[in-house]
Amino acid sequence: MVRNVASLVVAVTVALPVGATPARADTRVPEVIGGEIATPGEFPWAVRLSMGCGGALTAPRLVLTAGHCVGATGPNHRITVTAGSSDLKSKDAVTVKSVEVFRSPGFVTETEGKDWALVRLERALDLPTLDLPEDAGGDEGPFTVMGWGQTRESSLKQERRLHYAEVPIIADRECAKAYRQAGVELVRDESICAGRHGVDTCQGDSGGPMVRRDAAGTWRQVGIVSWGLGCARDGYFGVYTQVSKFRDEIRAAISKLG
Ligand code: ARG
Repeated sequence: MVRNVASLVVAVTVALPVGATPARADTRVPEVIGGEIATPGEFPWAVRLSMGCGGALTAPRLVLTAGHCVGATGPNHRITVTAGSSDLKSKDAVTVKSVEVFRSPGFVTETEGKDWALVRLERALDLPTLDLPEDAGGDEGPFTVMGWGQTRESSLKQERRLHYAEVPIIADRECAKAYRQAGVELVRDESICAGRHGVDTCQGDSGGPMVRRDAAGTWRQVGIVSWGLGCARDGYFGVYTQVSKFRDEIRAAISKLG
């Protein structure tokens, strides 16, 4: 979340060796997300969580989000989910409370991987759900990412309307190399890096889905917005939880929680 990553930015910036300062880190970052506003109904399973994260309706009563957005596994009535509209203030938007959270076993912090969680809602929503990947393949991109988070690294504002952008995959090797220089070790087999110049997710987008269409044209969730060093900085890409890696575990948790 905003706080977590803000502190990561500070920690990482302090840890930067001389000469490893991210190129143009302090220049203005253009609109993250590429400035596109989703049309109503375009991503009907995208939801907003009250702590300032995104998520996706993965079953009528379950939201898939990031582990770092929620607390520990157990009863939880503190989260309000806004669903049913890309415009949070639209009269079509519905709100529903959480009753329970299931966070990935072994989750510690977003940079250490396993960054996924399920939020169980007090009632089922009559909305389309977002499918998980059909198999372990399909993690090649390009992907679509979305959220109601900041459109600039320096902005403190969250958006009323859902923004989205298309981003290519970045090789783990390249992504890990940049982050290693900044003192963070990428958990390669649990992460997908994605982004392009000036286009990225940002604070407040965490937990939101990264998707692609399968051969039949159905959206599939391939990632979960997890972390990054600042937003859309040259050489540093967005890091997403690799959903295919956790697909069976998530599926099992979904059928248990219903
Ligand atoms: N952890 C952030 C959040 O809580 C998401 C950061 C994504 N950053 C990025 N550069 N892609 O909203």
